[in-house]
Formats: sequence, structure tokens, C-alpha cells
Amino acid sequence: MWTQIITVLLAVLPSPVTSTSPPSYRPQDTANMTSTSTPIYRNATYCINERVSNLLSLMTLEEKVGQMFQTQLYPGPNGTLDTGTSTRNSTDNLIGTKHMTHFNLVGDITDAKATAEFVNLAQQRAADTRLGIPLTLSSDPRHHFTENIGTGFQAGSFSQWPETLGLAALRDPRLVRTFAEIAREEYLVVGLRAALHPQVDLATEPRWARLGNTWGEDANLTSELIVEYIKGFQGEDGKIGRHSVTTVTKHFPGAGPMENGEDSHFTYGKNQTYPGNNLDYHLIPFKAAIKAGARQMMPYYSRPIGTRFEPVGFSFNKQIVTDLLREELGFEGIVVTDWGLITDTTILGQDMPARAWGLEDTSELERAQRIIEAGCDQFGGEARPELIVQLVQEGRISEDRIDTSVRRLLREKFLLGLFDDPFVDPEAAARVVGNDYFVRLGNEAQRRAYTLLSNKDDILPLKPHASTETKFYIEGFNATFMSARNLTVVVTPEEADIALLRLQAPYEPRPGGFEANYHAGSLEFSPQERARQASIFSTVPTIVDIILDRPAAIPEVIEGAAAVLGSYGSGSEAFLDVVFGITGPEGKLPFDLPRSMQAVEEAREDVPFDTRDPVFRFGHGLRYRDACGDEGRECR
Ligand SMILES: *[C@@H]1O[C@H](CO)[C@@H](O)[C@H](O)[C@H]1NC(C)=O
Ligand SMILES: *[C@@H]1O[C@H](CO)[C@@H](O)[C@H](O)[C@H]1NC(C)=O
Ligand SMILES: *[C@@H]1O[C@H](CO)[C@@H](O)[C@H](O)[C@H]1NC(C)=O
Ligand SMILES: *[C@@H]1O[C@H](CO)[C@@H](O)[C@H](O)[C@H]1NC(C)=O
Ligand SMILES: *[C@@H]1O[C@H](CO)[C@@H](O)[C@H](O)[C@H]1NC(C)=O
Ligand SMILES: *[C@@H]1O[C@H](CO)[C@@H](O)[C@H](O)[C@H]1NC(C)=O
Ligand SMILES: *[C@@H]1O[C@H](CO)[C@@H](O)[C@H](O)[C@H]1NC(C)=O
Ligand SMILES: *[C@@H]1O[C@H](CO)[C@@H](O)[C@H](O)[C@H]1NC(C)=O
Repeated sequence: MWTQIITVLLAVLPSPVTSTSPPSYRPQDTANMTSTSTPIYRNATYCINERVSNLLSLMTLEEKVGQMFQTQLYPGPNGTLDTGTSTRNSTDNLIGTKHMTHFNLVGDITDAKATAEFVNLAQQRAADTRLGIPLTLSSDPRHHFTENIGTGFQAGSFSQWPETLGLAALRDPRLVRTFAEIAREEYLVVGLRAALHPQVDLATEPRWARLGNTWGEDANLTSELIVEYIKGFQGEDGKIGRHSVTTVTKHFPGAGPMENGEDSHFTYGKNQTYPGNNLDYHLIPFKAAIKAGARQMMPYYSRPIGTRFEPVGFSFNKQIVTDLLREELGFEGIVVTDWGLITDTTILGQDMPARAWGLEDTSELERAQRIIEAGCDQFGGEARPELIVQLVQEGRISEDRIDTSVRRLLREKFLLGLFDDPFVDPEAAARVVGNDYFVRLGNEAQRRAYTLLSNKDDILPLKPHASTETKFYIEGFNATFMSARNLTVVVTPEEADIALLRLQAPYEPRPGGFEANYHAGSLEFSPQERARQASIFSTVPTIVDIILDRPAAIPEVIEGAAAVLGSYGSGSEAFLDVVFGITGPEGKLPFDLPRSMQAVEEAREDVPFDTRDPVFRFGHGLRYRDACGDEGRECR
């Protein structure tokens, strides 16, 4: 046992620093640590500032800069640590050699208990390092419904809610708070302590592929809701503690105004533009987030064009990160960059150059220096601590500057209680994640978020008994599932009494394994698709469910279909419950629905509600005739 511990200690002791600057590693500190007394940073009776200072004084430069990187943590097979591939280092290397302690956990969580066990294994690997700095594990959103019947409904996974646009459609701050508190519980119990969200960008450019994870087009509504979101994850008024999940508000200073609606993951979409001189509008939700106690911020990939700011990516941009975010808006928390700003990489088989927009010709070292000088604390999607060691050794960045960021990052871990107990209880994970109550609330929100855009002759809701007598033609739904709900399904519109069509908002398919996931380009259906739909509309009364991950330009669907429902991540069951009036739709549009692509192209990227003569305005949403008052569902 002792031999084992000593071997581990020896294995992880850093190699001597070959630097001209004085190494921060002091032998007597190590002596204190390996003696029987508990070092101050491990002693919870000391205040956090003392614990942070003590730990910092014990850290080598390599151990410090390891904190400044956050990259993906891939679970290995059968609950083991990932042993790496030709393109990525093993978990053991990342934790043991690179001294990294911040990771975003990737992969589906279909078995909460197994995930909790895996998280404990990774935490144990971190506990076995020289200083035993615990891991902070983060996650992209995991609570939003995706139409993947294979995993989406599997017991043990998280409760399933509509996308944030659907929460915005319900305009209910209390519901957002409830959602965030439930999501926090489900994160906490599997050991996820940082949320790489909320995304508070304003959807002022209808073509942008990422507006499906925003709160819509209106700054006030977004601000009101994200304050509840942040408090629900972090705790009331920024009182972060051992039951908190720290949030990363993104993407500063608002990623909505993308030039021509393209996305800045990609070379052709690197520009962000302000033809309406309307940057201030995009800052409104960030100001609200800071006031609510937001702990972390992420700048976007884009570079600003035609503004007073230097045209380089926002994380490289001192005027944005230091002057605007830290000094003007008073943000004191952690700034973490978006993923992959330094190193060229491959994502889902697609070559992706580093997103160093405006600095494409600089070296990796120069990029890293620019990011630190801009005022960022942590590099997302990178594992290159050696670059920062070199910058310090060459005297290009001071160790004091490194300490400023590392102190912020360590402080967050202490506040979250990770030093006092980084482990989770797998049995509790199995009980809490996806419990009936959480699932029920998520399902209810999926139904209520439906937005009734049109309802000719009050065709909706259909009479419940109609389900056995009526013949349905369906598209976009699982026929087996529909039959199991006792719907009589026929194969042509001609045989049907009613058609049910689930349509994805129009987009232009893009090539590439990664890029293909981004719905970009035209918001209109092609002439061929319009003709195909028109022949269904003229054959049989048609009820359309349009998935509004972007504001579709579909006046002809509104015209031709008997009823149109907009949705933002809701399952087939939710759809049927709404169609048969078991739950009434309560959503209101979180953005305008434009009339045409021409109107979209003529509008300014940074200005909300700017397309000419929209088909429906922000806030449009009908109720069923028998629903009474604004709170229809309360009074059936
Ligand atoms: C380590 O121990 C020495 C002697 O006991 C003491 O002077 C020093 O302050 C200690 N260092 C830390 C970091 O606790
Ligand atoms: C923690 O610090 C307190 C006060 O300084 C001391 O009394 C206590 O023994 C320490 N605990 C451990 C486990 O070393
Ligand atoms: C996975 O783990 C289980 C339980 O520890 C073990 O029985 C099984 O052999 C393992 N499978 C593989 C492929 O390693
Ligand atoms: C793994 O990390 C080492 C340094 O620790 C580096 O030399 C090597 O290139 C890395 N390998 C991969 C696949 O990233
Ligand atoms: C947003 O809120 C501010 C302050 O309450 C108000 O002056 C403004 O008119 C609101 N704007 C919108 C679009 O509701
Ligand atoms: C971005 O803006 C610059 C400066 O106006 C322009 O030269 C360039 O063509 C634009 N588009 C891209 C993809 O860089
Ligand atoms: C369709 O639904 C049935 C019943 O719910 C299910 O067994 C089947 O896997 C689903 N098919 C697809 C392609 O999702
Ligand atoms: C479908 O109909 C059968 C036979 O009438 C009935 O037993 C079953 O409960 C119905 N299922 C649903 C989901 O309504």
C-alpha cells in the first residue's frame, strides 16, 4: 500500500523547471505537505482566500498553467479512463502530466449511476496527484428534447425539456427557475459542477445556425429569464456553494449579429457586423447576468467588423475582454474562451483550423499570448500548457499574471466545495436523475411550449374519439408509435381524413461531418418542396408541426395548412396531447417569423424585429377556443 502511494507520488512529481526565472516550487512546502499535518488548503476551517494563497504558494508553474486549460473528457470503455487515440492524449496524461483539472464531459449519459462511478474514478485519479487538486467537470446542455427515440426516452437519462426557445415561448420566469433547479440537481448528483450555458445571444439575425439555443430576439425577455436560470443553477444572488453549479454565460458580447447569418466556427462565417450600430442592445442580457452573479463568461469566436474594436476574435480582443467586460461592465469572474482558438484540429472527421480569426497568420504561441493579454483566464478545447510555460520562461507573460487567473480558477473550486468532497454517490445518481417528478415537469413544458400559429375554423383540438375513427396520413412521426396510440395510419393523403406533418424549419444542407449539424442558409422551402406540400394541403386538412430551430419564412404553409403549431424540442407524445387537447398550447413566438428570404437579407444583422412585414410578430400565439383567459390550462 505504502509502496504504491510513494510510486504514485514519484510518478507525478514534476520534473525540475529549466527556467531562468525563479521556480515557484519550494522544497520546504513539499516537506510540509508530505508530513502528517494537513496543509492549510486542505483544512476547511481556514477561509477560502487563505486556502487559495496557500495552495498557490505550493504550486509549480506547470501545476498552475494546467488550471488554465479545459478540454473534453471522454469516458473510456466500460467505465474506465480513456487511454487516448492518435489524435488525443489519455486522461492519465491530461491529469497526471499536463496537470489539468477542468474538463467538459462529453458523450450521452444514459446510465446516471455508471456516469457517477466514472466521475468518481476520474476524481480519484486527480486525488492521486501531488497536490490532489479536484476536477471541475462541465457540460453542454443535456436537458433539451431531441427526437431520438432510441436514447431520448430511455429511463435513467435526464428529464427532457424543450429548448430554451421553448422556455422563452412560455414567458414564465418561475418555470425557468424550476427548470434550472431541476437541471442543477441532476448535474450535481452525477458530479457535473459547471454549466457551459446559458447562451444569452439575441436572435436578431434569423439565419444564424445557433439561435436555437438562445432565448429569442428580445433583450428584455432574455434578461428576465436568464437571471432565473443563473440563480437556479448557481444559487440565489450569486451565493455559490457546495450545492451550486457554476454557469458560463455566453457568448460575449452577444453572438447574434453574424454577417449574412453564417457561423464563426467556420472560416466563411468569421465576421460579426453591426450595420445598425446596435451593439449596446446585445449587451443588455450580459449586464443582467452580471447583476445576477454570473461567475463565468465565454466570448464568441467572431471578430467584429466595422466597429471601434480591433477586428480580431473576441477572446483575443483586449478592448472586449478587459476594457468592455471587466472594466466597463464590472465583471470580476472567470473568462473562458470558446473551444479551439490555438490549435488546428479535426471534429467529427472534418478538418477545423484554429478559430484565430484576424490572427490566422500568427503562431500558436502568439495566439496564446494574445488571449492572456486580452484578459482571459482559461483556454477552452485546448491542452497546451507547455505554451504558457514557454511564455513565462521567455518573460513574455509574468508569473503574476498567471497567478491572477489561477487564483480565480482555484477559488471557484473551493467555493464549490470540491476540495472538501469531490466524490458523488452513484446510488443517489440512480435515484435522482430522471425521476418521475422531474420527467413529468419536463414533459408538461414540452406540451405547453407549443405555439399555435394558425387554427382555421378551430379545427384544433381534434376530438379525442376521432383517434379511432379518423384515418391519418403522417410525415415526420414514427408510424409504429402513432399506431400504438390507436391512430389509424394510412399511406397516402388521398385515403386520409387528416394529415399530420412534422416539418423541420427549412435550411440548406452543408457538407462535412461537423458542419452538417449546423442549419444555415435559406429559411424558405424550395419550390419543389412547396409544390409537394401544397398538393397535400389541397387533398386533406393538414395539421403542421414546424420545428422552429430558426424563424422559418413559410407564409405558404400558414396559408395552405388547416392549423400550424410551432415547436422547439417536443416529442411525438407531446404533439398528440396538444392535437387532441389533453394539454393546450400556451407558447408565444420568441421571435418574428419573416415573410421571405428577401426580407431577411434586407434586414440588419444586429437590429431586432427588423424584417419587413413579418408573417407573425414576436409574441404571437393563439389559444384553443375553450381555453379561458391568458392562463388557459388553469381553467379547463
Ligand atoms: C512549512 O513548515 C515550516 C517549518 O515548520 C514553516 O516555517 C512554513 O511556514 C511552512 N510552510 C507552509 C506553506 O505551511
Ligand atoms: C485545521 O486548522 C485548525 C485551526 O488552525 C486546527 O486546529 C486543526 O487541527 C486543523 N485540522 C487538521 C485536520 O489539520
Ligand atoms: C466490464 O466491467 C464488468 C464489471 O466490472 C466486467 O465484468 C466486464 O468483463 C467488463 N467488460 C469489458 C469488455 O471490459
Ligand atoms: C500527448 O502529450 C504529449 C506531451 O505530454 C505530447 O508530446 C503528445 O504529442 C500528445 N499526444 C497527442 C496525441 O496529443
Ligand atoms: C425593455 O425594458 C426597458 C426598461 O424596463 C424599457 O424601457 C423598454 O421599453 C423595454 N423594451 C422592450 C422591447 O420591451
Ligand atoms: C469579413 O470582413 C472583411 C473586412 O470587411 C472582408 O474583407 C471579408 O471578405 C469578410 N468576410 C470574411 C469571410 O472574411
Ligand atoms: C418507433 O416507435 C416504436 C414504438 O414506440 C419503437 O419501438 C421504435 O424503435 C421507433 N422507431 C424509431 C425509428 O424510432
Ligand atoms: C388503444 O385501444 C385499445 C383497445 O381499445 C385499448 O386497450 C388501449 O388502452 C388503447 N391505447 C391507448 C394508448 O389509448
